[in-house]
Amino acid sequence: MNESELSTFRAEIDKIDDDIIELLSERFEIVSKIAQFKRENGIPIEDNKRETELFAALTRRDETHCIELKRVFTTICNNSKRIQRRSLNLYLIGMPGCGKSRCGYTLSNILGLPFADTDKLIMREKGQSIDEIFDTLGEPSFRKMETNMLLRLASRGGTVVATGGGVLTTPANIPIIRSSGYTVFLDRKLDELLNQKLRNRPLLRDGKEAIIRLYNERRSSYIQNADYIDNPDSRGVIGRIISSYKRFIN
Ligand code: S3P
Repeated sequence: MNESELSTFRAEIDKIDDDIIELLSERFEIVSKIAQFKRENGIPIEDNKRETELFAALTRRDETHCIELKRVFTTICNNSKRIQRRSLNLYLIGMPGCGKSRCGYTLSNILGLPFADTDKLIMREKGQSIDEIFDTLGEPSFRKMETNMLLRLASRGGTVVATGGGVLTTPANIPIIRSSGYTVFLDRKLDELLNQKLRNRPLLRDGKEAIIRLYNERRSSYIQNADYIDNPDSRGVIGRIISSYKRFIN
């Protein structure tokens, strides 16, 4: 090969690199659209079947370079999953008074993500307090509004979401939350929950007994549906939640 051929080859490689960049950008755009569809329809992000098929096709297409191609596509697939994971919500679940709104607000500021509180959004949209909604329309209507709000937030993605304490009591909410986000259970001790003065909580009108009953009924479901669990009263809790979430999205 002479100097002039070398520069022709280099020009060809530059052109191929340009095409690869353009195609990869297009691929990542499509991946984002698929992520939104998955969030809206309760489909998990991981789909190893498609990856296995892709790798099998690589060997068939180019036996000479199949090892290199597999390496490249492993990186492409990992980055595609990363894009999809970054589009998920960060959900905070736990008992009334465990600090979901407070922690959620702090987390959203630190992470630079928008913050949403399902109860507050419902109140704003209906122009009524949660108490009033329960009294005038009843709990089943409130639960429907809650599911609707979750679906909208799942479709939006990339948001820190403080949920209502009873969110997991509607079975349909569980796949919505699990497939559209990373879930943190704020596991506040019962003694601390009992020390709270909680206003505008229709299900807690019976006071401490209601809190104890709901705590015992719900704690296992919070645990079962959490990606990360921490005590909101312990030192450094926000930092630990952020580290666990960052490990997950990266
Ligand atoms: C509820 C908790 C409330 C609110 C509604 C029902 C519950 O939210 O969604 O009163 O079933 O525990 P908080 O957890 O923010 O109090």
